[in-house]
Amino acid sequence: MTQDELKQAVAQAAADHVAESTPVGAIIGVGTGSTANFFIDALAALKDRIGGAVASSEATRQRLAGHGIPVLDLNEVSRIPVYVDGADEIDDGLNMIKGGGGALTREKIVAAVADCFVCIADASKLVDTLGKFPLPVEVIPMARAHVIRELEKLGGLPQLREGFVTDNGNQIVDVRGLLIHDPKGLEAKINQIVGVVTNGLFAMRPADLLLLGTSEGVRRIG
Ligand code: A5P
Repeated sequence: MTQDELKQAVAQAAADHVAESTPVGAIIGVGTGSTANFFIDALAALKDRIGGAVASSEATRQRLAGHGIPVLDLNEVSRIPVYVDGADEIDDGLNMIKGGGGALTREKIVAAVADCFVCIADASKLVDTLGKFPLPVEVIPMARAHVIRELEKLGGLPQLREGFVTDNGNQIVDVRGLLIHDPKGLEAKINQIVGVVTNGLFAMRPADLLLLGTSEGVRRIG
């Protein structure tokens, strides 16, 4: 199977999970990225059953709207039973690195509100130790140089993502060279640097369920 076919299979499995586990009229949280895009396409078949969706990025909002799925403002929603999103890396404790697409802050906000986080990923995303994928950190532009110096003190090799502006009007610094043995501790430490909006470690709010696309089928972990 190609990587896209694996992504499509987990996206369909997530849509089946939504249909089985959420009440009619439920609001679904929707992530960002190529795997999440396949999920949006699968979710379109359920658009008369769900109440709508909360988007984790402008790109996702546009794709949902293109399918005629109502998109709600998070502030108008009191409950999101399930949030479905991809990951750049995930470990067996279901901690993740996210934000390769730059949508980490809104993703983390929607995930924080959701009762259940379903991560959909092809098998290449499952790792023993997080950190090979550069860790994205969203920064307030005027704090960029300060944040880069502080990240260097943590042992990483931070680099500005040139020419990229987040949906929130901020910048992304990608940190290479980290071997992350304490994802929760590092997530908290980086978030304490003044000028950091948030970082792409999802360890304080890990996934609850991983649907992993393998050539033998979709594995459920968690
Ligand atoms: C977007 O900011 C990211 O967090 C994505 O969810 C993550 O990068 C996975 O993307 P793909 O499904 O495209 O690999």
